[in-house]
Amino acid sequence: MSDVAAQIAALEDAGQDELAAALAGLSGGRQKQLSAQVAELDLGLIGSLVDRFVIAGEGEAALGEVTEAPTIPLPADAEAERSEADARSAGENLLRSDRVSAVLLAGGQGSRLGFDGPKGNYPFAPITGRTLFSHHAAKIAALRERYGCSLPWYILTSPQNNDVTRASFEEAGWFGLDPDSIRFVIQGTLPAVDARTGAILREAPDRLALSPDGHGGLLSALRRSGALDEMSGAGITTMFTFQVDNPLVRVCRPEFLGYHAQAGADMSNTAVRKVAPEEKMGVVARVDGRPGVVEYSDLPDELAEMRNPDGELTYWAGSIAVHCIEVAFARTLTDGGLKLPYHRALKKVPHVGADGKLVAPDEPNAIKFETFLFDALPAADASITIEAAREDEFAPIKNADGVDSAESARLLLNGLYARWFEAAGLAVPRGDDGAPPDLEVDPRFALDAAELAAKLPPGFAVDGPLALGLDEGPTTAR
Ligand code: UTP
Repeated sequence: MSDVAAQIAALEDAGQDELAAALAGLSGGRQKQLSAQVAELDLGLIGSLVDRFVIAGEGEAALGEVTEAPTIPLPADAEAERSEADARSAGENLLRSDRVSAVLLAGGQGSRLGFDGPKGNYPFAPITGRTLFSHHAAKIAALRERYGCSLPWYILTSPQNNDVTRASFEEAGWFGLDPDSIRFVIQGTLPAVDARTGAILREAPDRLALSPDGHGGLLSALRRSGALDEMSGAGITTMFTFQVDNPLVRVCRPEFLGYHAQAGADMSNTAVRKVAPEEKMGVVARVDGRPGVVEYSDLPDELAEMRNPDGELTYWAGSIAVHCIEVAFARTLTDGGLKLPYHRALKKVPHVGADGKLVAPDEPNAIKFETFLFDALPAADASITIEAAREDEFAPIKNADGVDSAESARLLLNGLYARWFEAAGLAVPRGDDGAPPDLEVDPRFALDAAELAAKLPPGFAVDGPLALGLDEGPTTAR
C-alpha cells in the first residue's frame, strides 16, 4: 500500500471520512502537500479529544476546591527588604554562574491584535517604532553584560510564524546578539475540528486548518527539539519564561529567580494585583491543595468578588504568565508524552465545505484544542508566587485598541521611564492630565532606575519626548 493509501485507511479507521475522501480526491503536488500534513497528525490524540469534547460534549473538567495561595508580597518593612535583598543576591548568583536560560513564548497567532506578522515584529515604541523583539533582545544583551553570563535565549515559534520570525532576526543583524546564542524552537499544531461532527477541517483543499497547540506546547517543543538536553548539557537548571507581548516584563528579575531557587521550587509565578474582580486575568491559587492558576472564566463570581477584612480582593494575584521553570521539572512533564490537560475553544474557522468551496462562518463553527503552560503548576511539589508592582512589570499588548493595547502599553511605559527620571532627581514635564511625554530608554542603556541614575550625564534634562540610548530613529537625548 502506498503511503497515501495507508493514510486514507488510517483516516477512515479514525472516523475522519471527509478528510480521507479529500486526500483521495487530490493528485500530484496538492495531494503531496495535504499528505505531508496528515503525516504529522496524531490521530489517536485527535480521536480522544473529539470523543470527549465533541461526541460526549464534555465541558472543561470541574474546578476543584479553590483556596488562597501563599504569596511573597512587595516588601513593606525592613525585614521583608532584607529577605528580598537575600533573594536578589541568590538570583544574581544563579545568573552569574550561568544556570539560567531565557525562554520567550512567541508562537501565538496574535489574532486579537490583528497585526500582519509575528507579534514580536509589532512596532510598539512611540518614538523609534522599535519592535517587541528588538526591545526584548536589548534586555537579553543588557543582562548578559551585567552578569557576565551566556544567558542562552530560546524563542518558541510555530510552523506558521517560524520562518518570518527567523528572517526578521537575520535582517536585524540578530539585534547585535551572537546568532549562536539564540535558538528557535517550533511548537506543534493541532487541527480545528467541526464543532458538530468532529471532522478535521481544511483551510484550503490541500491544507489543514492548523493552529499552534497552545503555550503548554512549549514543554513538548523543548523536549522534542533537544533544547532541554542542550540546557542540561550546558549546566542550565532554570528557565525564565515570558510572553512576547509584554514590553514591561523584567526579564530574569533576580529577586524572582532567587526566591524560586531558595524554595527549591519546580515552577513559580509572578503576580500583580487585579484592578477589579471582573478583570480578565487568571488568578494564582491553590486548587485541591496544589499550586495552580484559575482562569478568569472558571473562577466563580463569589470567589472573584470575595474581599478580606481590609477590603483587598482575596484572589488578587493576577498571573502575568512570567514563570521560573526547572529544566528537570520540564523533563518529568514530558517523559512519555506531554502531561498537560487539553482545553477546548469554540471559534470561527473558515474552511472548505463539502462542495469544495470556502465557507466563512458567521457563528463559531469549530473547536480548537490547546494546552496551557500554567497547567503544569499542579505537578510542582514546590512553587512560589512573588508579587510584582503592576505599573513596573505588566503592559500587555493584546488588542488593537482600548484595554491592553499598544496605546495602554505606551502610557504605562512612559509612566515607568518618567518615574525612573524622577527618581534620578530630574523634573519630567507632564500634561494637564498628568501624563508624561513619550519616553523610551534602551534596556542596554539602563535596565532599571538605579542604572539610569548612575549613567545620566550631568546637566541632562527631559524637556519633551525622548528616546535615550537608541539610534534607530529620532532622539532628543542630549
Ligand atoms: P495569547 O494567549 O495572548 O495568544 O498568548 P496570542 O496567540 O498571542 O493572541 P490571540 O489570543 O490570538 O489574540 C500569550 C503568549 O503565549 C504565546 C503568545 O505568542 C504570547 O506570547 N503563545 C500562545 C504561544 O507561544 N503559543 C501558543 O500556541 C499560544
